[in-house]
Amino acid sequence: MTDRYAVVGHPIAHSQSPRIHRLFAAQTGQDLSYEAILAPLDGFAVTLRRFVAEGGKGLNVTLPFKAEAFILADICSPRATQASAANTLTVGADGRLWGDNTDGVGLVRDLKEALGLTLFERRLLILGAGGAACGILGPLLEEGPRGLVVANRTAARAEALADRFHCLGPVRGMGLAALAGADPFDLILNATAASLSDAVPDLPPGLVAAHTVCYDLAYGHGPTAFMHWAQQQGAARAEDGLGMLVEQAAVAFELWRGIRPDTAPVRAALRQGAPQAPDADS
Ligand code: ATR
Repeated sequence: MTDRYAVVGHPIAHSQSPRIHRLFAAQTGQDLSYEAILAPLDGFAVTLRRFVAEGGKGLNVTLPFKAEAFILADICSPRATQASAANTLTVGADGRLWGDNTDGVGLVRDLKEALGLTLFERRLLILGAGGAACGILGPLLEEGPRGLVVANRTAARAEALADRFHCLGPVRGMGLAALAGADPFDLILNATAASLSDAVPDLPPGLVAAHTVCYDLAYGHGPTAFMHWAQQQGAARAEDGLGMLVEQAAVAFELWRGIRPDTAPVRAALRQGAPQAPDADS
């Protein structure tokens, strides 16, 4: 029988996940269906229960339900616990829900495997201290950077996030203005929601050197505002988050089906038809 999977969010019409997972399934010969489900803002739990009752095998969870998915899961992986958010739910044979978070590991795979970057002993800067930043901090710190700064418009949020993760590695939190005078970073990751409104965080000069790679977790049709900023600052490379999107989906697919899909052709297919407006999630 065809196994049923889906992505749940609000909104959901923009989601690339059905396309990605169908391409993975075709590539690996897996018999599965994958749909997009719009849950009411106050109806995630009901939507989830219905999906499980109807025999669904697994769900991807996107904005704004990742924290709720983490709470509703019966058992969560260490990486979901670290992020206090789940983007992948698997229905066990006994009906229990397993929560995982593949966002951070997807980002790290994109950075290391697809883009060929080294994170060990590098100086990293994350812009933003919301859910997106929280989801990537643990997996990035596990790569052994020399230092990781979380800088946010609201300094207190960055400081609180850094406090939560400091047991995993050398992380500091601060406001954006406090970056003034810092040495250039090796990698700057934009995890703010600014790209969604075509804006760039208000950053002091001097953060980018000729070797710096800038990476926007958002993606869209063409370079995001942050990527334009990076190019103006003279960055070595400016990348968007489409690769992360595909990699986090591949980790979820492997959890569900036990087969690791080849992400390169799927990334290429998506590049042919990326969305018009910047997007930050699956
Ligand atoms: P998400 O789950 O996408 O991370 P969020 O939790 O609402 O969403 O967090 C959004 C992040 O983007 C926050 O770090 C926010 O900064 P504040 O904590 O100061 O609100 C940041 N952000 C949004 N718009 C921004 C802008 N125009 N410039 C700088 N930071 C911005």
